[in-house]
Amino acid sequence: VILYIIFLCRVVLCIFGCCFMVRHAQTAAAPAPQPRIKKFQVYRWDPDTAGDKPRMQTYDIDLNTCGPMVLDALIKIKNEIDPTLTFRRSCREGICGSCAMNINGGNTLACLNKIDTNISKATKIYPLPHMYVVKDLVPDMSNFYAQYKSIEPYLKKKDNNQEGKEQYFQSVEDRQKLDGLYECILCACCSTSCPSYWWNGDKYLGPAVLMQAYRWMIDSRDEFTEERLSKLQDPFSLYRCHTIMNCTKTCPKGLNPGKAIAEIKKMMATYKEKKAAAS
Ligand code: SF4
Ligand code: SF4
Ligand code: FES
Repeated sequence: VILYIIFLCRVVLCIFGCCFMVRHAQTAAAPAPQPRIKKFQVYRWDPDTAGDKPRMQTYDIDLNTCGPMVLDALIKIKNEIDPTLTFRRSCREGICGSCAMNINGGNTLACLNKIDTNISKATKIYPLPHMYVVKDLVPDMSNFYAQYKSIEPYLKKKDNNQEGKEQYFQSVEDRQKLDGLYECILCACCSTSCPSYWWNGDKYLGPAVLMQAYRWMIDSRDEFTEERLSKLQDPFSLYRCHTIMNCTKTCPKGLNPGKAIAEIKKMMATYKEKKAAAS
């Protein structure tokens, strides 16, 4: 009887084993998903290579083996197809601002921009418009950063004797006034979508820098509001903004630089009236 029971157990185990193997084999034999080949047309130019001319280069990517964002596709191209492709990126989560570029006609962050999964349409990628190109998708940000530096983007006090001795307190209400301004990551998507900045980028500060100028003008702890306004009084720095609002439309962080510029213009009107009354 014992031998018979052992024999039965072996038969049962054998049947289970066979079933498992058949199921496993079925899974393994499942057909691979159809490749979803998407074309990416990418701007290429190396100004340091003599004779090189700007051109578009096409790369085929299987979306089945690529992450969902345009930055994933660029990283895949660089890692697996063409290591010479050059672009900036760091955080891959919309914080550093370095992957700003023009994708399918709009300025945005490649790491926050989902790949259009319609494989019949190529994704077109250019550097930020109207900027000098360092290489491929890397724009020269020197002028942009120099303009940012020019607005002195830090807290300024008339009396520096207290510096470092105690905190500069701010009410909750005053702190809230900075919401929608301090979140700017200086990606330059807005400035490089602004027609006024395209044509006068050397003299007009552009929406990103002006929004930061406004951020310091309305900081309740800052004591240089009037000086900050007076520095913008020429015909170009501020007044080249014609409220076209491309800047606000394109901001990948959902901010509103156009509104900030309008607020500076209002402050400027009051400042000018005050100055006229005093003279
Ligand atoms: S306002 Fe928006 S688009 Fe402009 S620099 Fe800041 S985050 Fe970028
Ligand atoms: S609102 Fe002003 S800063 Fe914004 S895109 Fe238009 S002109 Fe440029
Ligand atoms: S990689 Fe930092 S914002 Fe895109």
